[in-house]
Amino acid sequence: MRVLITGGAGFIGSNFIHYTLKHRDADVTVLDAMTYAGNRASLSGVEDQINFVEGSVTDAELVDKLVKEMDVVVHFAAESHNDNSLLGPKPFIDTNISGTFNLLEAVRAHGARFHHVSTDEVYGDLALDDPAKFTEHTPYAPSSPYSASKAASDHLVRAWVRSFGIPATLSNCSNNYGPRQHVEKFIPRQITNILTGQTCKLYGDGLNVRDWIHVDDHNDAVWAIIDKGRIGETYLIGADGEVNNHDVLQLILELMGKDKDDYEHVTDRAGHDRRYAIDASKLESELGWKPKYTTFREGLAQTIDWYRDNEDWWKPMKDETEAKYAYQKRIDPK
Ligand code: NAD
Ligand code: DAU
Repeated sequence: MRVLITGGAGFIGSNFIHYTLKHRDADVTVLDAMTYAGNRASLSGVEDQINFVEGSVTDAELVDKLVKEMDVVVHFAAESHNDNSLLGPKPFIDTNISGTFNLLEAVRAHGARFHHVSTDEVYGDLALDDPAKFTEHTPYAPSSPYSASKAASDHLVRAWVRSFGIPATLSNCSNNYGPRQHVEKFIPRQITNILTGQTCKLYGDGLNVRDWIHVDDHNDAVWAIIDKGRIGETYLIGADGEVNNHDVLQLILELMGKDKDDYEHVTDRAGHDRRYAIDASKLESELGWKPKYTTFREGLAQTIDWYRDNEDWWKPMKDETEAKYAYQKRIDPK
């Protein structure tokens, strides 16, 4: 099976490649633009088993040439960070919308099986006391430039299935954690703050809830959908991992042997979504998928160990990331 993985040098894409090469017989090609979020070190150990193409999904000619040779395309490439989308939305429009358009046009021309990796953020947010969770029927209501661009890309995929009959599926997953996640994101930012002697940062009141899933469980679900999912369908991926940011942070501090109150509240994110929660029953009942990481504490402890053991991986990006946050604070000091 010839598989094209876009965004394969990023967090979830690189873990997908490691997972795929361990569990599947696949001929893997990676297309990655190597933005600030792409890291070749994330592919160390498998570099000689893949064909790595440095290039952008916004390059229609390159995309067409690559897709032509593939049986399956798994589309992870995206600008993925909400805070960055508030600072400068343009790359989100280009990569997430136009890039997806280019892939869809190539799939339409050449007929590969397409899987679109998307996010639960397309559904907006839930109130803390709302008994509901997101389902495949929740109306789209994205809040940030990032989630709006992902919502737009989902609509394109659905339209290409309906109008042109391309063989595509979609998945919308909740917050991933695990190894190789960029230090701009909440969990690795706090772990590496502690490892570098900096104070942990909690946005606003810290009561926002995210529904955490280990990245390997996400990727296992993506393969289940590619193997057994019905064409044109959307599957929500989640592992019943709702925890508020305050409790996640205190757990990190505890697991790292620090005082549980050793953090500071900082200015809230503009438009900050309050709560995400996934109802994954369609994926579970139709495709028989179940998460393997059922204890967040254990998965988090393993993730902390990975960052402790892989300082060479994250150290080069830490100062630059914190400088970006400091700049963001200066231009929006509220
Ligand atoms: P990431 O930011 O870690 O990685 C994105 C990768 O895409 C990087 O390697 C980057 O270089 C590459 N890329 C960016 N622009 C590109 C372009 N124009 N052409 C080719 N490559 C480009 O992101 P991630 O957290 O691994 O997310 C991967 C996908 O999963 C995204 O589509 C995201 O929306 C989705 N998702 C993420 C989460 C999460 O919790 N991180 C949850 C649900 C869905
Ligand atoms: O739900 C899926 C989404 O999860 C993905 O689509 C996104 O690509 C991914 O980045 C993630 O989005 P979030 O905005 O939820 O993740 P982030 O790690 O940026 O923040 C998680 C929560 O932690 C959020 O409520 C904001 C908060 N936060 C974040 C940072 C960086 C803090 O309190 N302090 C911080 O320093």
